[in-house]
Amino acid sequence: MARVKVIYASKHGSTREIAEAITDELRAAGQAATCVPAGEVHGLGDCDAVVLGSAVYMGRWRHEAKHVLRRHGPALEAMPFWVFSSGPVGDPAEEQEGAEKWLEPRRVIERAEELGVREHVVFGGSVSRDPHGFVERSMARNTPEEFQDRRDWEQIRAWARNIAAELGALVT
Ligand SMILES: Cc1cc2nc3c(=O)[nH]c(=O)nc-3n(C[C@H](O)[C@H](O)[C@H](O)COP(=O)(O)O)c2cc1C
Repeated sequence: MARVKVIYASKHGSTREIAEAITDELRAAGQAATCVPAGEVHGLGDCDAVVLGSAVYMGRWRHEAKHVLRRHGPALEAMPFWVFSSGPVGDPAEEQEGAEKWLEPRRVIERAEELGVREHVVFGGSVSRDPHGFVERSMARNTPEEFQDRRDWEQIRAWARNIAAELGALVT
């Protein structure tokens, strides 16, 4: 059984819910998973593997998730770790050309790859249910109801099950 830290950075809670679902699924598969906000991570000495995820705003990860990658790079390099970004909302058919650069920050992914990340994925996001300010309110208003929450729970849980299976093969 591996001790897995599922670390997340979330402004409005939808990325936290993704991290919680991943944690549940890892536990269901027999791993000792804990779910922690990125701002509360002081060290990685007490775990065998990490899943690190962040909401994406304006093409960037939240700073506390970037901080974990920067500050704990050597520890991550020495253990299996996985990365996810969460963001896209709205009608996928209307995504503009070149939209990929808004899905996951290139420099973050390059750094994760340098450190040996096993996989990085992008999950759909969710429009805030409690929007603050003009931009968030207009986004909530202008996003069609059926595309307000693009989180695909089966995709998220299947990803977590794959992680559990890989860990099962690595850690005995
Ligand atoms: C001002 C603003 C900017 C955003 N920028 C991006 C972006 O660049 N790329 C993306 O994929 N999603 C973007 N989103 C969507 C959010 O990432 C999405 O709502 C996500 O689920 C929020 O996660 P959270 O609830 O954990 O904070 C943006 C949302 C807002 C309100």
